[in-house]
Amino acid sequence: MKQTLAFDVYGTLIDTHGVMQALREIIGDRAGAFSQAWRDKQLEYSFRRGLMGAYQDFGVCTAQALDYTCVALSVVLSDEQKACVLDSYSSLPAFADVKEGLDSLRAKGANLFAFSNGRSAAVEILLGNAGILDSFEGVVSCDDVQTFKPNPVVYAHFIAETDSEPENTWLISSNPFDVIGAVSSGWKAAWVRRSEAAIFDPWEFAPTTVVTNLGQLTEKLIP
Ligand code: 2OP
Repeated sequence: MKQTLAFDVYGTLIDTHGVMQALREIIGDRAGAFSQAWRDKQLEYSFRRGLMGAYQDFGVCTAQALDYTCVALSVVLSDEQKACVLDSYSSLPAFADVKEGLDSLRAKGANLFAFSNGRSAAVEILLGNAGILDSFEGVVSCDDVQTFKPNPVVYAHFIAETDSEPENTWLISSNPFDVIGAVSSGWKAAWVRRSEAAIFDPWEFAPTTVVTNLGQLTEKLIP
């Protein structure tokens, strides 16, 4: 049975801390703390909007989280600087292990899809700029169902869109909340733990497997 692989985008294929360069030019060595606080708030806004049924697309969560982070960390950005930082979000780099890992999985005949909170158009631009769009058969966006991960609705949407079965579908993600969402929907899931500092939530759901880079996926998923 052919496996369908759903790759999370932000934080798994694409390094969201790639904004650091643009931030460093503006706020110097506070860029690391700023980038982390921004990313955390972006996800929090997606969770809260999902719970409230107050959907706005992921780009809105990103922009509003940037405004919040500026206030929280007492950073004043001009409109031009904000636009430049937000703009860098569409040209973030892929992690170094991604291209080779995807090529190897494709060579084994797996169906590869990008699966993201981001709008399809935004994700296609991002993956295109990172040079990996052609590795995928398509992009499935949570925007289609107007809610966010880890709502079970988005995992069911992916299955319907790709004509897959949960038991033959893998989520590949660095985000533990995403892995837990997929496993609780009956999928298999590989947690990509690039850093030893990454912690998995101590819930009743565990990843099916853990890898430290995408190069390890072929052997583990399609031996
Ligand atoms: C994504 O869906 C969760 O960052 C996330 O791409």
